[in-house]
Amino acid sequence: MELQFYGPNDLHLTEALESDPNVMRDLGGPTPNEKIAKHHARRLDSVLNHGCWYFTIIPEPNSEAIGTIGIWESEWEGAKIHEMGWMILPDFQGRGFASKAGKLLLEKVRTEQKFSNIHAFPAAQNAASNAICNKLGFTLIGEVSIAYNGPPQKSNHWIWNR
Ligand SMILES: CC(C)(COP(=O)(O)OP(=O)(O)OC[C@H]1O[C@@H](n2cnc3c(N)ncnc32)[C@H](O)[C@@H]1OP(=O)(O)O)[C@@H](O)C(=O)NCCC(=O)NCCS
Repeated sequence: MELQFYGPNDLHLTEALESDPNVMRDLGGPTPNEKIAKHHARRLDSVLNHGCWYFTIIPEPNSEAIGTIGIWESEWEGAKIHEMGWMILPDFQGRGFASKAGKLLLEKVRTEQKFSNIHAFPAAQNAASNAICNKLGFTLIGEVSIAYNGPPQKSNHWIWNR
């Protein structure tokens, strides 16, 4: 598996992920069309201008990307934090790709000594994402309320320390 920096040609991947009701089930539902280009632009900007790490997941050499994984700047209780998240296209879910991508990304964090603390906020009912946090060595801090695309929902707050 290879992680490639998210780039200008990856709009179609964001469209495929964020317009899919299954992918967005625990993230407040599909992103409205007019907002997808904005999310794409925000990701490019975070990579190019803010030192954030947003990647596409390439399972095998020369294959198409099957999802995204990233660490971006966010805010929690008035403080700047780094948050990690992942998305896999429905046809490729349940095959260990997000777990493997998460492992690779955290290895890169250690190697390059970046992002000393990383937060994650999966919805409480998002069994796969909570399992990934646990497997990657995040510590569960507690239950919080987070609004993704829609109204606030019960979520778990996890932190990983380099
Ligand atoms: C969350 C997501 C990225 C997981 O990707 P994936 O490649 O399918 O995950 P993996 O195959 O690596 O599985 C991770 C763990 O979750 C478990 N899992 C996978 N799908 C599951 C499901 N539907 N229900 C319960 N557990 C599930 C796996 O068994 C595995 O745990 P294990 O290693 O203890 O067996 C994917 O489901 C997704 O894109 N969901 C929509 C977007 C999303 O919610 N992103 C998270 C935002 S925080």
